[in-house]
Amino acid sequence: MAGIAVAGAGLIGTRHLAALRAAGLAIHSVIDPLPETAEVAQAYGVAHHTSLAAALAAGPSGVVLATPNSHHKDGALECIAAGVPVLIEKPIATGLADARRIVEAGEAAGVAVLTGHHRRHLPVVSAARERIERGALGRIVAAHAMFWLAKPDSYFETPWRRAAGAGPTFMNLIHDIDMLRFLLGDVVQVQAVQSNAVRGNPIEDACAAVLTFEGGVLCTVQASDAIVAPWSYELTAHDNPAYPPTGENAVWIGGTHASLALPRGEEWSDGGKRDWWQPISRTTLLRAAGDPLVAQMQNFAAVIRGDAAPVCSGRDGMESLAVLIAIRTAAATGGAVVPGEDG
Ligand SMILES: NC(=O)c1ccc[n+]([C@@H]2O[C@H](COP(=O)([O-])OP(=O)(O)OC[C@H]3O[C@@H](n4cnc5c(N)ncnc54)[C@H](O)[C@@H]3O)[C@@H](O)[C@H]2O)c1
Repeated sequence: MAGIAVAGAGLIGTRHLAALRAAGLAIHSVIDPLPETAEVAQAYGVAHHTSLAAALAAGPSGVVLATPNSHHKDGALECIAAGVPVLIEKPIATGLADARRIVEAGEAAGVAVLTGHHRRHLPVVSAARERIERGALGRIVAAHAMFWLAKPDSYFETPWRRAAGAGPTFMNLIHDIDMLRFLLGDVVQVQAVQSNAVRGNPIEDACAAVLTFEGGVLCTVQASDAIVAPWSYELTAHDNPAYPPTGENAVWIGGTHASLALPRGEEWSDGGKRDWWQPISRTTLLRAAGDPLVAQMQNFAAVIRGDAAPVCSGRDGMESLAVLIAIRTAAATGGAVVPGEDG
């Protein structure tokens, strides 16, 4: 394998480089127009390119697009046109029309497109999915996901972080939505409200949504970056060393025979008695250690070799984006929205 190139040597791109190295995978090159990122390439002993076109001409086996969201569509189409598999950071695109173009171009050309929703690669999430698929929870009735944390005032000094699309719903809740879709299936209807009462910015400080999944599972989700609290996947999952972990749960899934709390992987069951006067007991799912970014790169390499299917495909990324867009539409209109039919 010629190696995987990383486009965008910023916050997450440098973590992808570290993940490639940790996975023992060949790094092809670093692509970034900023001259100072040549040092990043140098640190890994690989070529530095200032454009994606130049890197593609040098024949990478795959490209990770860790570039700003507005570049995802053009970058992905360029990779697909060159026949090079591409892993696109989330969100796959800024809008559904662009996401569809990427997915359809990849499918038409037979070029693999993956989306970087790395939580699917957390061992506890895979274990939860297996328990749900095996029917260990019985019929799933409801779920709840929390993204409550406090971003510092300095975060909002950068103008784009106060502008449309930069609120906690689009920036953060997208990870929870994708994980819930991975665990529970497709979302068929969305209702939502949003508020900017704390900061008064054009974007929301808080969002509450009700998602109906296929099969009728009802799910409430909450996102706010204006609350001091320990309950968000960022602060609980230990998947990003930048966040001080709290050891709490942030997602709950309830079935007719047992329920699950994540990311601690706690399963509560009454042993089949279904009786509120009987004690219920807690077991902890296997929590094997593992960096989800490393596992994501291993999956990308296996897809490139033709040995595996994407754990999170471009289509998965598009469908998760469709739910986020539906939340925005539902909050703006006050109505119930079917994901994909509003954008
Ligand atoms: N999965 C996650 O948890 C996660 C976390 C952070 C960011 N992200 C996503 O990753 C992407 C990048 O975010 P970030 O925070 O690392 O941004 P960043 O601003 O830190 O880095 C982006 C880099 O891309 C470079 N760049 C810009 N245009 C380019 C181009 N045409 N070709 C190559 N490089 C180019 C910039 O110079 C910069 O170095 C975004 O889509 C973001 O949503 C995902």
